[in-house]
Amino acid sequence: MTTYRWNTSDFAIGYDAAADKIHPYYLEIQDAILARLPRELDRGGLVIDLGGGSGRLVERILDAWPRASAVVLDQSEPFLALAERRLAKFGSRATCVLARLQDDWKSQMSAPAVAIVSMSAIHHLEPAEKQTLYRQCAEALGPGGVLMNGDEVRDADDAKYLAEQQSWANHMRRGMADGSIGEVFHSAIHKWIDRNVTRFGEPKNSGDDCHETIQAQLDYFRAAGFAGADCPWQKGMWAVMRGNTNPKR
Ligand SMILES: C[S@@+](CC[C@H](N)C(=O)[O-])C[C@H]1O[C@@H](n2cnc3c(N)ncnc32)[C@H](O)[C@@H]1O
Repeated sequence: MTTYRWNTSDFAIGYDAAADKIHPYYLEIQDAILARLPRELDRGGLVIDLGGGSGRLVERILDAWPRASAVVLDQSEPFLALAERRLAKFGSRATCVLARLQDDWKSQMSAPAVAIVSMSAIHHLEPAEKQTLYRQCAEALGPGGVLMNGDEVRDADDAKYLAEQQSWANHMRRGMADGSIGEVFHSAIHKWIDRNVTRFGEPKNSGDDCHETIQAQLDYFRAAGFAGADCPWQKGMWAVMRGNTNPKR
């Protein structure tokens, strides 16, 4: 059996070191999520980062809200090892949980969450898995809680979708050429380009880049029980999709 690409140490270290060079809007999406987190976090509360990787978003959240606590949930031991190191300064406010998004992770949470966030992770799930995940998110949030998924999305039009992916491929090629993306991550990028550009249109399975439209995912949010669903931020093939629970629930 081959190892899922996210589970090698080199891959985790390479992504962590160059995330804001690989991803053209890495910090901008983090900013967009941070700006929309509930003010209730001033008084404390739990934030869950689904597929939180090396903990970069949670680090910013815990720095900004000194009374909040957070869980980084991820299926990758190498990524969580980096997160544990990064978040050690927060002591018991930060917890790392090794789990798949497809698992029953909600039962491992100590309290209903004020917010569930995610970046560049949920698109690895097939449509049915995303729908199940969003239902679990709606159940894991407290009244008035919010889900924000800042993720890769696809245009409904195949030609536009391919053009967006080519444009990202060219962005990453420039990063490799000018040295801002370390060599340790080059083979991962070549494989991404092969899967998504060279072999565009081939069937996708769970674990691949199972991009879906914003509209499809907002429909999943509503079907999962979110009272409100919208997209407050979008650029190219990235969007922040938001679901709000009903405060009166
Ligand atoms: C591109 S990295 C993003 C990491 C982090 N969210 C960030 O923005 O820096 C994708 C992350 O999603 C995680 N991931 C992918 N599929 C997953 C799954 N089915 N369950 C849990 N984590 C998953 C990977 O292990 C990896 O840490």
